[in-house]
Amino acid sequence: MTLFNNLLCPLDQEVLVHEGRSMHCPNGHVYDIAKSGYINLLPVQKKHSKDPGDSKEMVSSRKQFLDSGIYDPIITGLHSFLFNGQNESAVLDAGCGDGYYLSKLIEENNRQSAQSQSIRNFESVGIDISKWAITAASKRSKNVSWIVGSNANIPVSDCQFDAVLCAFGFPVFSEFHRVLKSSGQLILVESGENHLLELRELLYPSIKEYRQTHMNGIDGFDLANEEKVTFKFHLGSQDEIAHLLSMTPHMHKAPYEGRQKVQELKQLSLTADVVIRSFIKS
Ligand SMILES: C[S@@+](CC[C@H](N)C(=O)[O-])C[C@H]1O[C@@H](n2cnc3c(N)ncnc32)[C@H](O)[C@@H]1O
Repeated sequence: MTLFNNLLCPLDQEVLVHEGRSMHCPNGHVYDIAKSGYINLLPVQKKHSKDPGDSKEMVSSRKQFLDSGIYDPIITGLHSFLFNGQNESAVLDAGCGDGYYLSKLIEENNRQSAQSQSIRNFESVGIDISKWAITAASKRSKNVSWIVGSNANIPVSDCQFDAVLCAFGFPVFSEFHRVLKSSGQLILVESGENHLLELRELLYPSIKEYRQTHMNGIDGFDLANEEKVTFKFHLGSQDEIAHLLSMTPHMHKAPYEGRQKVQELKQLSLTADVVIRSFIKS
């Protein structure tokens, strides 16, 4: 079990002290560490709903889809963004879901370190508002500090990370800026113009015009690098198609008729089109 050193109490922002199976702040707020090693730093007072974030079913669908390895090409792209020449890196995955990206990045880092015979230390923290996501994540890797918490109030001291990753997530740029070290990088993974186009064509009567996000920049950050990762993949069963649909926002946004069409398919060939952009804290 790994727990990051500079975690803050979500109620009074004091540094938490680790003792046995819990963490506590000087004012007596205590947070238990779950059996699988994660810590819940989202107290009831800070929740806007009873079960915030992705549901148990969505997390399970995402996990089954990602476990197929279909999105692995995104990892190779991400790894080169994260370790551009650095030997040490502290990384936060903000909205980490079931922990696929961080666990895969650790594997990729170990593989590349072994090949080049130079050890690159990689300290990582994954935060998600969904307790289901963090429960699943904590089973993927014991080498990550997994935290139930919100991007809107990241329970970590200022200037701790070399990189903040936000993949298909809910970015809160002021918080990302606060927890990044000076000149640290924010890495955004977002859908490109043709991402899952074949699925969207089935779901919607017409496809919305694509608009690149953050065209006018992000306050406190400078765009440094951009890479597109595009590949085709095939889903050969209704179960696989259902898992993909359930992990996308289309599950709730698409009209009933479109979802019915997709629920009748036995196979589907698709395009993954992902944009990875890095921004440097200015
Ligand atoms: C589309 S999923 C992406 C998960 C993961 N990054 C991936 O690509 O597999 C978005 C995730 O953001 C989480 N989330 C939503 N609001 C959040 C918030 N305010 N703070 C942290 N996580 C949040 C959801 O629970 C969900 O796991």
